[in-house]
Order: sequence, then structure tokens, then C-alpha cells
Amino acid sequence: MADSMLPLPPLHCLALSFAQLLLLLLLTSTQAEGHATPAARHYTSLRSQAGVLLHWKSSIEYSKHMGTWRDDGMYPCNWTGITCGDTRLHGGTTVKVIRGISLVGAGIAGKLDTLRFQSLPYLIKLDLSDNHHLSGAIPPGIGSLSMLFTLNFSGDQLSGHIPATICNLGRLAHLDLSSNNLAGQIPPAFGNLSRLAFLYLPGNRLSGSVPWNLGQLQNMREMDLSWNILSGQIPSSFANLRNLNALGLSDNRLSGPIPEELGQVQTLQVLYLQKNRLNGAIPPSLGNLTMLTFLYLYRNQHTGQIPVELGTLSSLIEFDLSENHLTGTVPFCVAGNLTSLAYFSLWGNHITKSIPHEFGNLVNLKSLTSLKIS
Ligand SMILES: *[C@@H]1O[C@H](CO)[C@@H](O)[C@H](O)[C@H]1NC(C)=O
Ligand SMILES: *[C@@H]1O[C@H](CO)[C@@H](O)[C@H](O)[C@H]1NC(C)=O
Ligand SMILES: *[C@@H]1O[C@H](CO)[C@@H](O)[C@H](O)[C@H]1NC(C)=O
Ligand SMILES: *[C@@H]1O[C@H](CO)[C@@H](O)[C@H](O)[C@H]1NC(C)=O
Ligand SMILES: *[C@@H]1O[C@H](CO)[C@@H](O)[C@H](O)[C@H]1NC(C)=O
Repeated sequence: MADSMLPLPPLHCLALSFAQLLLLLLLTSTQAEGHATPAARHYTSLRSQAGVLLHWKSSIEYSKHMGTWRDDGMYPCNWTGITCGDTRLHGGTTVKVIRGISLVGAGIAGKLDTLRFQSLPYLIKLDLSDNHHLSGAIPPGIGSLSMLFTLNFSGDQLSGHIPATICNLGRLAHLDLSSNNLAGQIPPAFGNLSRLAFLYLPGNRLSGSVPWNLGQLQNMREMDLSWNILSGQIPSSFANLRNLNALGLSDNRLSGPIPEELGQVQTLQVLYLQKNRLNGAIPPSLGNLTMLTFLYLYRNQHTGQIPVELGTLSSLIEFDLSENHLTGTVPFCVAGNLTSLAYFSLWGNHITKSIPHEFGNLVNLKSLTSLKIS
């Protein structure tokens, strides 16, 4: 993500290692070569793929990065930011095709509508992140990149809606559109991107509800929808995200209770729900999330007591419940069992002021100043 909008740790800290990513890419490209894909039957020459890029280049401003993109016989696979790979044609011949475009922070000013995605059918990776003057809409034609595995437009200046055609990208695993000006709804058809593992949409102006269908994405590892204007409830369908490590929904307008079903996502390590309008009691089922290290529920409208069940969260490092309407005391087992806790904030609630002596067991708690009780 371009800007670190989330409190520590940024969700992408948990991302795949480079080796895992490479393996996935290899698997993807092997599959691509294994059978004659539709793209391979309608072969687009390397020369015409390069022509499409030169046409786009002629319509935008750019810094030095794209200087090597020239129509003077220089091999396009040697252009800055371009990677090539092999694909086998229907007849069995192997040819070079453009597999990756990576122009991160390349000072690109312009739009994407002059980039003819239809003629780049072999792309596996498209990373145009951190081009703060890359503006305009994401063209619907992007849906023709049927082999795409990674799409990264984070930190650009894109506006308009997310085109529903993105949902045609059946191999997409990494989708990062964070820190743009995208508006409108999250297309419900995202629920069809069955290979999606990383979905980052924070820092846009996305509105409407969180699509129920996102709960179908069994491969999802990290989902960050924070810093938007999403409303409605957190879908209880998220209970099905059995590989989810990190969920960020903070800084939206979400309301209603935290679904009890979230307690079934036992792989969760990071849960950021702060700065919404969530209400009701904190579900005791969160005590099932024994891998949780960061639990932020601050600045919501939660009522009731801190559930004793949370005493099982022994991996918890940071726990922030401040600025809610919680009552009662800090349960002994919560105070005594959360032995990894380094930060615990409760201020701005109606919690009884006595501090259980079990807090003495919390050797990692940095200082009692982090333990602010109203
Ligand atoms: C997208 O690009 C940004 C900036 O280059 C990077 O920090 C982020 O990790 C990338 N996202 C993904 C999903 O790889
Ligand atoms: C691409 O660049 C490499 C290294 O600079 C060079 O050896 C190779 O000949 C170039 N390929 C073509 C086809 O120009
Ligand atoms: C999702 O996929 C199903 C089955 O492949 C299809 O019937 C449905 O129309 C798709 N939904 C959207 C919104 O694309
Ligand atoms: C989660 O916790 C609730 C209440 O604490 C319990 O009833 C339920 O069986 C647990 N579910 C799982 C999947 O462990
Ligand atoms: C937590 O602490 C209480 C009392 O301090 C203890 O009875 C309980 O077994 C501990 N463990 C869990 C997982 O709650």
C-alpha cells in the first residue's frame, strides 16, 4: 500500500514470501502454457503487444523510466519494467510474450483509456502503483487480461467506479487498488474471483454495503476495506473465510453488531474494526480467535461487559477498546491470561476503576500509561 494508513502492523506484513509468490507465478505460467488457452489460439505477436505499449506511451507523460520504450528495434523484453515469458502456440511453437509490466513510481501522468488491454492477453502482472498523476477511470477492457495474477494500482489517482469486468479475471490473486479516488460500490461479482488471496481497497470513497459474496472467497488471506464510506453490517458470511489472516474494516460507517460468526475464522491474526458505528456487545465467540495479535475495536458504540471468554487470547499484543460504552470491570482472566499484551487501552468507557492485581502477570505490558482506564 502506498501510504501506511493502518496502525502497525500494515496488513501486507503478512503477505506471501517472495519464494511463495514465485512458486505461485510459476504454477500459474505453467498452467498457462500447459493447454492452448483461447489467447494462444488468437495469437497476438510480440511486435503488436509492444505497439500497444508504445501507443499508450505516446498519450501520457512519464519520467525517465520509460525512456527505453522505443520503436527503434530495441527488443521490447529489454524495456524498463517489462518482463517476458514463453507461451506455446496452438501448433506447438514457443514464442516470447509480455508477461509483466511493472512501472512503480514512474512519474506517469495520464490515463489508462489509451492502453489497449485486449492486445496484452498474456499479462500475469500489472503494477502501476505509486503514479500519483495516473488518473481517470479503470477501463472495462481490463477484464480481458484473463491470465492476470497481480493487479496493483495502489497510490494512483484513479477515479470512477471499479468496473464489474474485473470479475472476469479468474486467476487474480492479488488486487491492490488502495489510495485512489474510486467511488461507487464494491462489485458483488468480486465474490466470483475464487483465487483472490489479497484484496486491498483502503483509502478510496467506496460506499454501499460490504458484499455478502466476499464471504465465498475461500483463498482470501488478507482483506483490507478500511478508510472508505462503507455502511451496513459486517456480513456474517465472513465466517467462511477459513484462510483469512487479516481483516481491516476500520474507518467506515459500518453499524450493527460484530457478527458472532467471526469467531469461526480461527486463522485471524489481525482484526481492525475501529472507527465505525458498531454496537451491541462484544461477542464472546471472539475468544475462539486464539491466533489474534492485534484487536482494535476502539471508537465504536459497543455496550455491555468485556467477555471473560477473551481471556483465551494469549497471543494478543495490542488490544484497544477505548471510546465505546463498555461497563463493568476488567475480568480477572482477561487481566491475568493475556501474557503477550504490550498495549491495552480502555479509556473513554464506563469501566470500574479498580485494576485487577492480575495485571502484575503481564510482563510484556510496556507501562501502565498504556493502560488508560477512564
Ligand atoms: C502494490 O504496490 C505498493 C507500492 O508499490 C506495494 O507497497 C504493495 O505491497 C503492492 N501490493 C501488493 C498486493 O503486492
Ligand atoms: C537484451 O539485453 C541483454 C542484456 O543487456 C542483451 O545481452 C541482449 O542481447 C538484449 N536482447 C536483444 C534481443 O536485444
Ligand atoms: C459468478 O459466477 C457464476 C457461476 O460461474 C455466474 O453464474 C454468475 O453470473 C457470476 N456472477 C457475476 C456477478 O458475474
Ligand atoms: C466459539 O465460541 C463460542 C462461545 O464462546 C462457542 O460456543 C463456540 O463453540 C466456539 N466455536 C468454535 C468454532 O470454536
Ligand atoms: C485464565 O485465567 C483463569 C483465572 O485466572 C484460569 O482459571 C483459566 O484457566 C485461564 N485460562 C483461560 C484460557 O482462560
